[in-house]
Amino acid sequence: MRKDCLLAFGLWLLTFGASAQAPDWENPAVLGINKLPYHATLQLPSKWKECKEIVSLDGEWLFHWSPKPENRPVDFYREDYDVSGWDKIAVPGNWQTQGYGTPIYININYPFVRNRPSVTTEPPKDWTAYENRNPVGSYVTFVDVTKEMLAKNLILHFGGVHSAMYLWINGQRVGYSQNSMSPAEFDVSKYMHVGKNKLAVEVYRWCDGSYLEDQDMWRLSGIFREVQLWVRPLVHIADYRVTAIPNDDYSQAEVQAVVSICNTGKKKATVCPVVMIDDLSADKTELQINAGDTTNYVFHYTLKNPRLWSAEKPNLYPFSVELEDNKGNTIEHFDYHFGVKKVECVGEVFKINGKNVKLRGVNRHDHHPRTGRYVDDATYEQDLRLMKQANINFLRTSHYPDREYLYELCDRWGIYVMDEANQESHGYGYANQEMGEDPAWKDAHVDRAESLVKRDYNHPCVILWSLGNEGGIGPNIQAMYDTVVALDSTRLPFYDCHPRYSALHDFGYPTPDILKTEAEKETEKPLIAREYAHAMGNSMGNFQEYWDVIYADSSIAGAAIWDWVDQGLYRSGKGEVKSEEFLYGGDFGDQPNDGNFNINGLVAPDRKPHPHYYEVQYVYQPLTFKRDNDGTIRIINRDSFTDPSEYDMTCDTVSFGSERLLNVYARLKEDKPWAEKGFVVAREQFVLQPYEYPSLPAKKSGGKAEVTINGNTLSSWIVDGHEVLQGPLEPYFWKPENDNQRAAGFARRVAEWKEVKDVTVNYTIINDSSILVEMDYQPTTDRPIIPKVGMRMRLPADYTHIRYYGRGPWENYPDRKRSAFLSEYEMPLSDYETEYIRPQDNSNRCDIRWFEISPQTSAVGPRLRIAGLQPLCIRAWDYGEEDLDAAPRHPQDLQRGRFVNLNIDLNIHGVGGVDTWGQRTLPQYTINGNQPYHYAFIIMKCNSGHI
Ligand code: GAL
Ligand code: MG
Repeated sequence: MRKDCLLAFGLWLLTFGASAQAPDWENPAVLGINKLPYHATLQLPSKWKECKEIVSLDGEWLFHWSPKPENRPVDFYREDYDVSGWDKIAVPGNWQTQGYGTPIYININYPFVRNRPSVTTEPPKDWTAYENRNPVGSYVTFVDVTKEMLAKNLILHFGGVHSAMYLWINGQRVGYSQNSMSPAEFDVSKYMHVGKNKLAVEVYRWCDGSYLEDQDMWRLSGIFREVQLWVRPLVHIADYRVTAIPNDDYSQAEVQAVVSICNTGKKKATVCPVVMIDDLSADKTELQINAGDTTNYVFHYTLKNPRLWSAEKPNLYPFSVELEDNKGNTIEHFDYHFGVKKVECVGEVFKINGKNVKLRGVNRHDHHPRTGRYVDDATYEQDLRLMKQANINFLRTSHYPDREYLYELCDRWGIYVMDEANQESHGYGYANQEMGEDPAWKDAHVDRAESLVKRDYNHPCVILWSLGNEGGIGPNIQAMYDTVVALDSTRLPFYDCHPRYSALHDFGYPTPDILKTEAEKETEKPLIAREYAHAMGNSMGNFQEYWDVIYADSSIAGAAIWDWVDQGLYRSGKGEVKSEEFLYGGDFGDQPNDGNFNINGLVAPDRKPHPHYYEVQYVYQPLTFKRDNDGTIRIINRDSFTDPSEYDMTCDTVSFGSERLLNVYARLKEDKPWAEKGFVVAREQFVLQPYEYPSLPAKKSGGKAEVTINGNTLSSWIVDGHEVLQGPLEPYFWKPENDNQRAAGFARRVAEWKEVKDVTVNYTIINDSSILVEMDYQPTTDRPIIPKVGMRMRLPADYTHIRYYGRGPWENYPDRKRSAFLSEYEMPLSDYETEYIRPQDNSNRCDIRWFEISPQTSAVGPRLRIAGLQPLCIRAWDYGEEDLDAAPRHPQDLQRGRFVNLNIDLNIHGVGGVDTWGQRTLPQYTINGNQPYHYAFIIMKCNSGHI
């Protein structure tokens, strides 16, 4: 410890001595000045509040924002500098989400001119970075220190500061740090005095470190994680690392705790470390530590018949480590936990605790619509609750370490974690050599691996250490790899850019078929898709197809969806939220930007699940149900450590008209932290007796309805004196694009379907209030795939109430309908629609037997029923195709309420679910334009009032 301090101090003199040099924040050789070594989180985050050593400095700080370094208040750190007129800002928080400067959303490129290590090279004039060349946030707060505190060792802890910071206390410069997603700590004892102390922090939006922080996300700045003053005994626990590895037959586990104790006092000290496991303490040993020294104390314990930790059974052993002085008084105490588990690759099989576990994964950015990169504890809990409820068992902390509490929750609730280093240099290209090989950037890479492993070492949830994402290849990555492997042999290293640095082979965004062939080709290592199923907008088709492949091949470890949450931001001013609209790239005038490419979540920014969230929940469920011909239900168990008998199995039989359905459920037998007893973990629906669709009426005419028919079009239908058609019922084969289709040039390829071709419609008036509609399609020449086969009509705007029998309740499409069971559903039109952040095609329901729609009052018109002669797909909106085709940026831009747009279809093109940069909907979910189609439905007035 002392050596580190001296070394850091030496560097400090060197740097501050040479003023003509590049600033620290444009110098890759300066990663920190006077920073304390990285170490494990000492106290469980949930216990920080009650930890006597921690004084939280979170709250309102004084703040000043400058667009460029030249404009910053250079001497604001001085004790006599008057900051009384400054604004107040919330710490932790980003300054852009509190009304200062501009959030920038950009994917691959840097938001500044790529010219390493400079981050201030002149950009084109329209870039945000032109005027705001490298904004600086100057922060001030005051902290009271007592005499007792001053007699101790005072450490200032910053959980995360983006991207680089200087610290001054009472006018004296303390140090500097970059590597924004890992803690920075400084020994501030000698800078503090009794009474009020001035803390001044100067934060730079960009620094040379930003070249390694080129992740696809909002580029935000500031002190965005906790700030704590640790008041520590002079002799204290600097670090501890616990491993608990089971033996080959899992009959016992070797627990080892290495505790580093340092003496920051001026006298030799005698202390006694005490490690407790499950209330069992080890023999006490007295240690003598010289002033300034650090000693390691190693503790061993053999645990018999250990309860293993897994995501399914997150068994934790309480663990505490404390120090007693030579009189037996406890001078320091920390609580933690450990789990016994083994992670290994056996040939090409990935195993946890000896079992071929499947990683049902998701990627997650630390994102909150109001607070940006700062995500509070309650949102962490909400995220993990929703993940557990969706049967997700694997989380990749893309693309940097998250806040400590997230890992504690994963330990306790059971989620496997790929913990990722904050390393991405995508602006130089995927697997680039520039950053991977340049020796000047080696330490900067290694720093990010070291800080990752050292902080999170004690979390049982971590199974893989990722060296980063879309970064370089070469010696710098090799050095990261070597660092990780040297620090921890109990987890596996992972890297996406080259298998050389990875225990598992990564293949991102395959189609299900390619995943299958890649896994067959790779014979040395397990395969993982660290990213797949790009969940942008209305997406996640063909999700079951992936898992059919993954379950069939033991060499596929699993896959992680891109990604968890839409990164939409509210527009905020100083201390307030100005709009409830979710904004994306470009909405803040940010340039350059990548539009809505950060809206890829399973849940919206406010964590409301999208319809495709439920498809994930279903496909990821641990049990699959099959029904044999004799009615026996067979269960396939996808889990490794849980028996199906651990669930309550229930079923119900329901009938809707002639159709009889059997619903089977596996429910939790007891409350879990993430769901209550009775929660459905797995489910299936079987049709016991199929629906009898109405047959073609024998007598095809005879009714007297007030209708106007022109060829294929029904242009008027007056029922009880009300015109129900605000737009004609007519064949209509067009559908607007969703994000996947937009990226794959769908509209261009199938543009000819804006005009219907080769179709004949027959209208038969059955009686006064029902019309039979029959449509025939016979291709006359070579046609491209059809967006949808069906018809459209427009009803008066008041028709906003829907009841139907079909798949639901959430939106479903042919390639994404497994989670949507058949039932009778009732909802307002606003719930039938899905409001995507970028408006796009939405709201389909498949396998509809009948569909009713009615206005609020019968004064407007009658309730209508549409009964299919075969299953129907129906979409309903309070706007039209033309409104979506005009590509509005936000739901607020849609002109609603002029009519209700109803599409009544035989079939519709699937949503797609591979990527949003060119892959198309799988062929089995497209509609071949070169074969005939016929479908029919009856549309009728209902007499039994309104829904
Ligand atoms: C991946 C990348 C992610 C994200 C995604 C597209 O290749 O790792 O960070 O950019 O593509 O949404
Ligand atoms: Mg990237």
